[in-house]
Amino acid sequence: MTVADTVKTREEQAELGQFLTAAPVADFMASMFAPFPERVRLLDAGAGAGALTAAVVKRICNDSYGVRSIDATLYEIDPSIRETLLETLQDCQRACEAAGVEFTFTIHNIDFIRELSARLAGDLFGAAPPTFNVAIANPPYRKINSDSPERRALRSLGVETSNLYTGFIALIQRLLAPGGQLVGITPRSFCNGPYFRPFREDFLSQLELRRLHVFESRKAAFRADSVLQENIIFHAVKGRHQPREMTVSSSSGEQGDDITETVFPFAEIVHPHDAERFIHIPSTTGHATAKETMDGLSASLASLGVTVSTGRVVDFRLKDSLRKEPEIGTVPLLYPCHFNGGTVHWPKLEARKPNAILDNAETRPWLVPSGMYLLTKRFTSKEERRRLVACLFDPEQVKAEWVGFENHLNYFHVNGRGLERHLAIGLYAFLNSTVVDQYFRRFSGHTQVNATDLRALTYPDGDTLRAMGREMRTLGLLQDEIDQLVAKHLHAHR
Ligand SMILES: C[S@@+](CC[C@H](N)C(=O)[O-])C[C@H]1O[C@@H](n2cnc3c(N)ncnc32)[C@H](O)[C@@H]1O
Repeated sequence: MTVADTVKTREEQAELGQFLTAAPVADFMASMFAPFPERVRLLDAGAGAGALTAAVVKRICNDSYGVRSIDATLYEIDPSIRETLLETLQDCQRACEAAGVEFTFTIHNIDFIRELSARLAGDLFGAAPPTFNVAIANPPYRKINSDSPERRALRSLGVETSNLYTGFIALIQRLLAPGGQLVGITPRSFCNGPYFRPFREDFLSQLELRRLHVFESRKAAFRADSVLQENIIFHAVKGRHQPREMTVSSSSGEQGDDITETVFPFAEIVHPHDAERFIHIPSTTGHATAKETMDGLSASLASLGVTVSTGRVVDFRLKDSLRKEPEIGTVPLLYPCHFNGGTVHWPKLEARKPNAILDNAETRPWLVPSGMYLLTKRFTSKEERRRLVACLFDPEQVKAEWVGFENHLNYFHVNGRGLERHLAIGLYAFLNSTVVDQYFRRFSGHTQVNATDLRALTYPDGDTLRAMGREMRTLGLLQDEIDQLVAKHLHAHR
C-alpha cells in the first residue's frame, strides 16, 4: 500500500488533522537537531505515514554521529495509514542495519492525547509515562472545544489550550528528559494570539528555544494539501534557561531555495517584560527596520489616554433590533463592509449587512456617543495587502447622536467617547503605514488583528501624532505618501 492508497476526503483529513510532511521539509527538520545522543529514544506523535521518523533515521544513518541505537515510539490514531507506516519503519530497519545502528520500534494505534494525558496525570495504574531524548512532530491541528474529551484530558494536567497541535506539543514537552530535543512544525498562530498565552508560558518555561524557521509563503510546506497556514519550524531543548542568542532562518518554501539565517538576541524574540510572552519572528530586512523604528517610539496607547476595544454590537444577540435601512428611531451600525478607503461609506444599502440598529433601552448599552473614532478591521482577507486596515469614522460625514460598532471591528476611543480630530488622523496615518504593518507581521502570522495586539504596539507621542494629523489634508493618500509623511514626522521628533 502507498500513501496514495490512503487518500482521504477533505472532511476526513480535517477531522484527523492529517496533512503529511513532504520529504524535503522532513529532511530539513531532521537537519535542525543538535548532535544526537548515543542511544536515541525517539518520539513521533501523530506519525502519519512515518515521514518524520524516516528523515531522522536517514540523517543518523548518513552521518553516523556515533549513534548506536534508535528506539522509535510512534503514535497514530488512524488505522488506515498503519500499513504504510509499518512499511516505512521496515525501510528504516533496513537502512539502520546497513549503517550498523540497532533499530527497534513500537507503533501505538491509539489516541496520543487521551492516553498520555492519563499516564502523565498518573490515572493509569502501573503505567508510568515513557521518556524520550529526541522528538519530532508535525502534530494535527484542529480546534478543540472547551467541553471536548481532548480538552478535558489536557485540563487534568493543567494544560489549557484550544487547539490539538498545542495540546500535542505540551504533552511532548512533558515526555522529554532534561536536555531532550524537539523539532516541530506547527502553525504560527501560537506565537501571539491571546488564547495561546497559557501555552506560550508553559512552552517557554520548560523548553529552551534554539532556532526558528519561517516560511515566507503561506502555501509552503503543505503545498500538496493546499493548506493555507503560515507554518514555522522550531528546535527546542528541554530546560529552563533560554539562550542569550538564537538563530532565525527563513525561506520561501520553494524546493531548493535559499535559506537566510540571522542570529538575534533572545530578548528581541521574547521581550523580557512582555506579560503576553509574544514570540516575535523577525525574518526580513523590512521587519528589522520596522523594529528599529518602533523601538524608538516612547508612547503607549495608555500614555496617550486612548483605549482600543472590540466593537460592542454582537449582531446575532441583537437580531431583532437590526435594520437593513436607517429609519426613525435607529442609529448607524458600522461593519467592516462600510470601510471605504480612509473613511466609512454609510449607509451601504447594496451590502448584505444591516445598516442601522434601533436606539432603545436594550441596545443603548452597546452603542457609543457619536464622535471621531478610528476603526480597524479585526479580520482581513488573505488577498488584502495589509494586515492592519484602519479608517476614520467622522461625525461630520455620518450625522447621528449615537453609533453602533459591530464586533468584527476594533475602535479607538477616549473613555468611551470619540478622539480629538488631529490625534485621530495622526493615528490613522501611523497605523496605515508600512512600518507598522511590517512590525505587526513579525509577531502575527495570521490575518487576525486583536485589540491586545494593538495595545502591545509602541506609538509616537501625542504631539507627533497631532502634527501628522494636521499635515494630512486628505485621507485618500497613496501608501507611499502615507509612509513619507509618517517617516518625516518620526524623524523630526527623534
Ligand atoms: C499533520 S499529520 C502529520 C503526519 C506525519 N507526522 C507527517 O509529518 O507526515 C498529523 C497526524 O496525526 C494523527 N492524529 C490525529 N489525532 C491524533 C491523536 N489524537 N492521536 C494520535 N494521532 C493523531 C493524524 O491521523 C495524522 O496522521
